[in-house]
Amino acid sequence: MEYKQTKKFPDDFFWGGSTSAYQVEGAYAEDGKGLSVQDTKKVTDSTTDFKVASDHYHHYKEDIALFAEMGFKAYRFSIAWTRIIPDGDGEVNPKGIEFYQKLIDECRANQIEPIVTMFHFDLPDALQKKGGWSNKEVANAFVRYAEVLFTSFGDQVNYWLTINEQNMMILHGAAIGTTNSKATNVKKDLYQQNHYMLVAQAKVMKLCHEMCPNAKIGPAPNISEVYPATADPKDFIAAQNLNAIRNWLYLDIAVYGRYNPIAWSYLEDRDLLPEIEEGDMEILKEAKPDFIAFNYYNTSTAAYSSLDDQVVGPTDGDQQIELGEKGVYKAVYNPYLKRTNFNWEIDPVGFRATLRSVYERYALPIIITEDGLGEFDQLEADGTVNDHYRIDYLRDEIREMKHAIADGVKVFGFCPWSAIDLVSTHSGVKKRYGFVYVDRDEFDLKELKRIRKNSFFWYQQVINSNGENL
Ligand code: BG6
Repeated sequence: MEYKQTKKFPDDFFWGGSTSAYQVEGAYAEDGKGLSVQDTKKVTDSTTDFKVASDHYHHYKEDIALFAEMGFKAYRFSIAWTRIIPDGDGEVNPKGIEFYQKLIDECRANQIEPIVTMFHFDLPDALQKKGGWSNKEVANAFVRYAEVLFTSFGDQVNYWLTINEQNMMILHGAAIGTTNSKATNVKKDLYQQNHYMLVAQAKVMKLCHEMCPNAKIGPAPNISEVYPATADPKDFIAAQNLNAIRNWLYLDIAVYGRYNPIAWSYLEDRDLLPEIEEGDMEILKEAKPDFIAFNYYNTSTAAYSSLDDQVVGPTDGDQQIELGEKGVYKAVYNPYLKRTNFNWEIDPVGFRATLRSVYERYALPIIITEDGLGEFDQLEADGTVNDHYRIDYLRDEIREMKHAIADGVKVFGFCPWSAIDLVSTHSGVKKRYGFVYVDRDEFDLKELKRIRKNSFFWYQQVINSNGENL
């Protein structure tokens, strides 16, 4: 739809940026922090580990000052479970509480709303050794950890996100480094983990409403609208299949407390059904999110696949590169879209389409907690970083988000990935996303100096004009 009149962003719109603890903080074993699965995972020889990252743990004041200079109204960060409870389910570490207290205070002192993710891929390694999310006790430990967070910060944090990209941990755990390699049937085990996480999430949302009546809470999956490869009705069914398995399975449970019927039939037919204990469905039904947070990078495109297909997509996928599954869908590249240097498709119009779909289905306010362009940025000899490609990318995304608002979608914030450079999930520091350049290489830490990229100044004037000057 093209409108004759445009709509403006709401005056109290949360312009901001995102990070996650293990990708930005460093100080991986400092002040009593326990190790997480991200600290113990094997990274490839060509990429750095997460030990130092951007050293935000020691630079947080300087970083928040830079976010404030850009005009951030919100900062979405995650709390490392292993700083708060080093072994996941034992003693609380006061130093961990202290760090996040200081971070929240610093945000507040700069009029920045903290938007806090409780769990972003960094399960305590001690819990992984007990079976990770395949063990129901770990889900209970998550609920206890949430209780500690609500007790410590419940009167200061107004927006909580439960689990970052649960759907990607289930579908692309290998790329993210969260798969349980000890399971005998890895896929079935993953859907059991998924169920435990969903029940834990529901308990945590309910607990939040009981303990922090002024706070709001929501899930934070990675959502990509799925296009059919052609107008062939069979391709349309394939697109619906992927939509159900990739997107709606997770949000239908979070919002309506029920398994998506198409996803359920798929799990049943492929012998992947999780064990559901008595009372679980009631718990799922009782919990209600206040909003939906989702991460968007691009859309997916699906074609019909028969059970006899041998090749259904690339052999190596990740959060934004689908793998395909025979009899379900073939993953194909969309010929209308360009791709980044990391092979991720770029689809700003798909952002509008995804926002529309999510709002039409769930009618809950939406905040975008990730979106961005990972590229090989270059620090020039004169100390500048001319990331014009990132400006172009974000300009198009914001323009389409504005169209979605004109469509009637209630979007209350945009926190692109990432506020500052950090370590990518599996591509090291060379895949940069930030508005602020952190001067370090893959293996040479240099001085970790913070440098404003060109996108920093561009985003500053976007925020200053409340999204009018793109
Ligand atoms: C999201 C994750 O999937 O995408 C982030 O929540 C991640 O943790 C981001 O960094 C970008 O992905 P990548 O693989 O380029 O780091």
